[in-house]
Amino acid sequence: MFISKSAGNLIDKAQDGKELNRKEIIQLLTLPVNCSPELFYAADKVRKEQVGDEIFLRGIIEFSNHCERNCLYCGLRRGNAKLSRYRMSEDEIITTAKQIKKTGIPTVVLQSGEDSFYSTDVICRLIERIRKETDLIITLSIGERPLNDYKAFRQTGANRYLLKHETASKDLYKYLRPGCNWQNRLQCLRRLKELGFETGTGNMVGLPGQTLEILADDLLFMRQLDTDMLGIGPFIAHPETPFAGIENDDIELTLRVLAIARLLTRNTNIPATTALTTIDPQGRLLALKAGANVVMPDFTPENYKIHYEIYPGRTDVCSAAEIISKLKEDFQSIGRTVLYSPGNRPGK
Ligand code: 5AD
Ligand code: SF4
Repeated sequence: MFISKSAGNLIDKAQDGKELNRKEIIQLLTLPVNCSPELFYAADKVRKEQVGDEIFLRGIIEFSNHCERNCLYCGLRRGNAKLSRYRMSEDEIITTAKQIKKTGIPTVVLQSGEDSFYSTDVICRLIERIRKETDLIITLSIGERPLNDYKAFRQTGANRYLLKHETASKDLYKYLRPGCNWQNRLQCLRRLKELGFETGTGNMVGLPGQTLEILADDLLFMRQLDTDMLGIGPFIAHPETPFAGIENDDIELTLRVLAIARLLTRNTNIPATTALTTIDPQGRLLALKAGANVVMPDFTPENYKIHYEIYPGRTDVCSAAEIISKLKEDFQSIGRTVLYSPGNRPGK
């Protein structure tokens, strides 16, 4: 496909790993549609060179949908009185972790809203039991906590921590997350890194109030913070939030952000997020062909999973076994493999 010389040069520059400034990132985000295949191909090539053809699997357990925060965009916000809330017991979580172990997936991601019911001691006990009873690599995704909690989690044996920055705009962040503060988020991320967690951050694409400048800043932030994992997904409106009815079916922009993230950060682990598959059935495959190298099947028991409604229409609501066999089929069709290795960031 013919693309202009300047567009081609800019994509080449990104593919070679040269610094890009804000203006250049905005240019990449706004290239004409016929340039997308070229951009995605460049990201795919860098993915192959840097992290190989293997797709890393992480098993997720969404163990509580209680949340003390009130983020404007999220279905778990405390103001959503219509959501039926659940908390998994320690034994239920361990049983689910054992199911993950049985499939051969080496990593578990424990995810929840910000729920202080699970105290420092409770989380540490979970970490200890998962280590002892399954030996899975443990990733936590349970939000902002005091430094001493992060220290305790790390000392007890948690290996990784996901804390998306959500948006690089301090003002937008403050508006979207009442009572929260961007500086605190950044401080948490820095602390997690310092404590030796493999750390993940990331954003949403298509948020109300988000501009291309802000998206470029998200990408610059990802590069600068140099985290090991990046979660990038489209915003999907939830009917029980202030953003009900705001359409976002633009998978293209999310894929571009993902591809540019790969080009800028090189050897990070980037999942094809469930949110992408939710707005487009091809979303997962498209992401895996535009820079992504991780898939995170959801092992939350069915009776709970349907209530982990961050946004509506989540498509992974089928059994883990079904998900894995479907994933394998999909991956083979694009010449990729699933090998069940831990999938640390290269060099970690
Ligand atoms: N659309 C897409 N992603 C969302 N998240 C929360 N609400 C939405 C939404 N409406 C994502 C956020 C958060 C994680 C819990 O889910 O990025 O980090
Ligand atoms: Fe809670 Fe996270 Fe949702 Fe905010 S985004 S309401 S902190 S689960």
